[in-house]
Amino acid sequence: MKQIAPSILSADFMNLQRDIQNLEHAGADLLHVDIMDGMFVPNLSFGPQVVAGLRPLTQLGLDIHLMVEQPERYIAQFAEAGADLIMIHAEATQHLYRGLQMIKDAGVKAGVVINPGTPVSAIEPVLSLVDQVLVMTVNPGFGGQTFIPAMLTKVTELAIYRQQHAEITYTIEVDGGVNDQTIGACAKAGADIFVAGSYTFAGDLATRIATLKQAAHDAG
Ligand code: DX5
Ligand code: ZN
Repeated sequence: MKQIAPSILSADFMNLQRDIQNLEHAGADLLHVDIMDGMFVPNLSFGPQVVAGLRPLTQLGLDIHLMVEQPERYIAQFAEAGADLIMIHAEATQHLYRGLQMIKDAGVKAGVVINPGTPVSAIEPVLSLVDQVLVMTVNPGFGGQTFIPAMLTKVTELAIYRQQHAEITYTIEVDGGVNDQTIGACAKAGADIFVAGSYTFAGDLATRIATLKQAAHDAG
């Protein structure tokens, strides 16, 4: 089942409640929530209070993408705020395995993220532990960047790895530069969940989400 996860980074922050509810009505499968600390990435977004405020506004799952140095420091707060899944970057912690265990111990699904410069081999030791792997298809930090096609080999590698290991159940997500032109290749490579920020919000939400779903479905 291919799923579309709009990134609320491209929403109107002064009308976040409206945009969240519109996304749900428009057929979004879950919400991708980008948390940026101004250190791991050169941008700031928002913190757990905003996530706690969003939680009662929607039935959709909240996927929290932590672009934060030493993310272990904030796992409890985001779990408490109502996260359904928390993703941490392999590059942001010295203790990736421990960080992922902390997420699970908090009763939340755990995901690992790799930047464009990080190979799948760097996370192989944690692949049996995670519920989701996120392959960045841009350098993290900003919406509206150009998709990096070379990242697709990592998606394929992860899909093959999952196929070869019966105990492995992670979903594969792609994030960055996903639009009607690039989503097909991602689906073909084996991605299950597609984050789309600027593309989703640049037109009628329902039409854009339906277009993405159709393209993913046709290609995958
Ligand atoms: C980038 C974020 C993305 C971003 C995607 O650092 O992780 O989730 O919002 O935006 P688009 O879809 O515009 O590339
Ligand atoms: Zn993201």
